[in-house]
Amino acid sequence: MPSKLVIGLQHGDEGKGRIVDDLCQNWANIVVRFQGGGNAGHTVYDNKGNKHVTHVLPVGVLTEGVTSYIAKGCVLNPVDLAKEIKEFNVTPDKLMISGLTPIIEPVHLWLDKVKYQGKIGTTAKGIGPAYSSFYARDSILFKDFVNNFYKSHSKIIENMEDFLNNNKEIKFNEEIYLELLDDYKIKSEEILDCINIVKPFLTNNEDFIQSSYSLGSNILLEGAQGWGLNVMSHEYPNVTSSMPTVGGAINSTGLSHKQIDEVIGVTKIYKTKVGSGNFSSRCKPVSEAVLSHFGKEFGATTGRPRKCGWLDIDEIKQACLENGVDHIVLTKTDVFTHLNNQFIYLDGDVRPIMTINKPSLQDPSFISLLDFIKEETNTDTISFTTGPNRGEIIWG
Ligand code: IMP
Repeated sequence: MPSKLVIGLQHGDEGKGRIVDDLCQNWANIVVRFQGGGNAGHTVYDNKGNKHVTHVLPVGVLTEGVTSYIAKGCVLNPVDLAKEIKEFNVTPDKLMISGLTPIIEPVHLWLDKVKYQGKIGTTAKGIGPAYSSFYARDSILFKDFVNNFYKSHSKIIENMEDFLNNNKEIKFNEEIYLELLDDYKIKSEEILDCINIVKPFLTNNEDFIQSSYSLGSNILLEGAQGWGLNVMSHEYPNVTSSMPTVGGAINSTGLSHKQIDEVIGVTKIYKTKVGSGNFSSRCKPVSEAVLSHFGKEFGATTGRPRKCGWLDIDEIKQACLENGVDHIVLTKTDVFTHLNNQFIYLDGDVRPIMTINKPSLQDPSFISLLDFIKEETNTDTISFTTGPNRGEIIWG
């Protein structure tokens, strides 16, 4: 089976990073990020228990011998990319970046911060505005950023100046205007400084994933965010601007739907959400406090507290149906056992379940929940994590 796709079945933060990491340790040759950008925060604990969080980079950079690839469906902030490359000591033999990936410009960061962060609770990483430019066919692609740097840099500066000159609402708010003027200098320099660091990672081999598949490499597609944040979901506009779905993976990697050999859907045993929008299964403050505390439910990218609620069975059922999920991984089961009263959310209502004392195949309540989830979602197999560390996962 040469390809596996890992996607989130909820609203992001399901623990996809550590599942991808486990598959990197045991299976993958190549790991591909295919959508989103620095809005993601994939947390992984290594063998010594040290915590690592990747944002732009595929989790594959943490494993020796794995090739990481950033595919064209992502949006890339070159300044943050350079910082992460340094942080993880990544060398060009470990990471390839598609030249067709659009870059996030400083002006996209400004727009996100000034216009959308307050409105829909974005991560302010410039994601939505960068995808807007892309679909307007006005992006600077990574290959042009690297190969025609001075021309690209002029366009980046011009876009920032246009923004400062033309955005009336900002001009009238002197505080923000002055802040952006300061930031203008910083961003103009930062983008100049990063070029030499990111340049060696450009690949012009757009056929890499398809040809690796033909050669039989084990290819792991690493989704970010989750199905509930799909730009085409009914929750629009409280969504991200990419497609964390099978469709998104296909468009970005150039693999066909027949070449996605296994779809792994990751879900917490409860649910969390950040940002705006409806959250019907949100639990009462007492339970939320327990989940938040034991689950350390704070955004890996923004540090914002995550709202907590019950596992929404209808939501994951739909996510599995639309993505053809073969296999579910249930995360944070250990956190859930800190609750005395445990519930799920089904058919628009909160329902009690038999208390799970231990996430183990010896606990009849736990087995009955696993069976129920499999049946409802029509999936063949289910795995679960029993703690945050590497190896604390029982594959089904
Ligand atoms: P954006 O992706 O920064 O534009 O944010 C749009 C929405 O998606 C906001 O509600 C964010 O909180 C949410 N979001 C984006 N990335 C993540 C993530 O990795 N985990 C959880 N929520 C996210």
